[in-house]
Amino acid sequence: MSRPSILSTHPLFPEARTMLDAQCDVEYWSRPERPSRAEFLKQVAPKDGLVCLLTEKIDSEMLATAPRLKIAANVAVGYDNISVPDCTARKVVVTNTPGVLDETTADFAWTLLMTVARRVAEGEEMCRSGKWAGWNLDQLCGGDVWGKTLGVVGFGRIGRAVARRSRGFGMKVIYTDAIRAPEAAEHELGARFVDLETLLRDADFVSVHVPLMAETRHLISTERLKKMKRTAYLINTARGPVVDNEALYQALREGTIAGAGLDVHEQEPRIHPGLVSLKNVVLTPHIASASIETRTKMACMAAENVLALFAGRRPPNVLNPEVLG
Ligand code: DGY
Repeated sequence: MSRPSILSTHPLFPEARTMLDAQCDVEYWSRPERPSRAEFLKQVAPKDGLVCLLTEKIDSEMLATAPRLKIAANVAVGYDNISVPDCTARKVVVTNTPGVLDETTADFAWTLLMTVARRVAEGEEMCRSGKWAGWNLDQLCGGDVWGKTLGVVGFGRIGRAVARRSRGFGMKVIYTDAIRAPEAAEHELGARFVDLETLLRDADFVSVHVPLMAETRHLISTERLKKMKRTAYLINTARGPVVDNEALYQALREGTIAGAGLDVHEQEPRIHPGLVSLKNVVLTPHIASASIETRTKMACMAAENVLALFAGRRPPNVLNPEVLG
């Protein structure tokens, strides 16, 4: 049997390459910039399989140009870049990479939380720029973290990993989700289920962990930001459009809330210019899962999904199993 022909829109990590190269003929996109839409469509057109990043849009136009395509293996847990219904209609299997990035992403949500609350970025800038004139009593005073209330919006694996870390800080945890967590999970994490409005009213730190869907787009809006405490901080490591970035900019500028830590942005890679001008927001370029260990695991998981399909096995992380019959 001939080897499947695969496009990988990234060179991946050596471990994942070794896996794929053993069984497939793989063309790797290896330039440092992401492929343009036109380059992507041209390269994917003759392929049997695709390993893609969240920067590639998999929609009906793309699927129409690649009639042989059998699988789109996203190297990400979020898959809002992929139209799963369009893939299902064309019998293209879609897979993602759940589970392997939870702890790394939770670490990073905490990195943002601590950085913004304790004004680390401002302090760093002061040191590097030579503007530090010496110790002073009220210099860069931020908000305490220990003993405060953490509000987790979306209590899946990542939300729970974020909550678990708060135990070491003696925090109260409240959470909201479409589905209430089992009692055992609530008990283990000392977490109390509340509705979103209560969470916004009571939390000192609001950390967002919902997928991007029609219902979660601009979940954090002007109205909702107004419900938060003036001393509260918002952390987003989920997807940019879950937070209305213009509304957040106005809220931070007017002091409706104290600060924010954002790893994800509404129109990546563009960052809202207003946010860039503010000191009470910490901005990072979508790197919450970016440890070498975790990104390697994600790449290997995507490779395994591709290999399984072409070996006649069920890909472990299939999102539209109906395609497999
Ligand atoms: C994902 O996996 O969805 C992240 O945003 C990138 O790790």
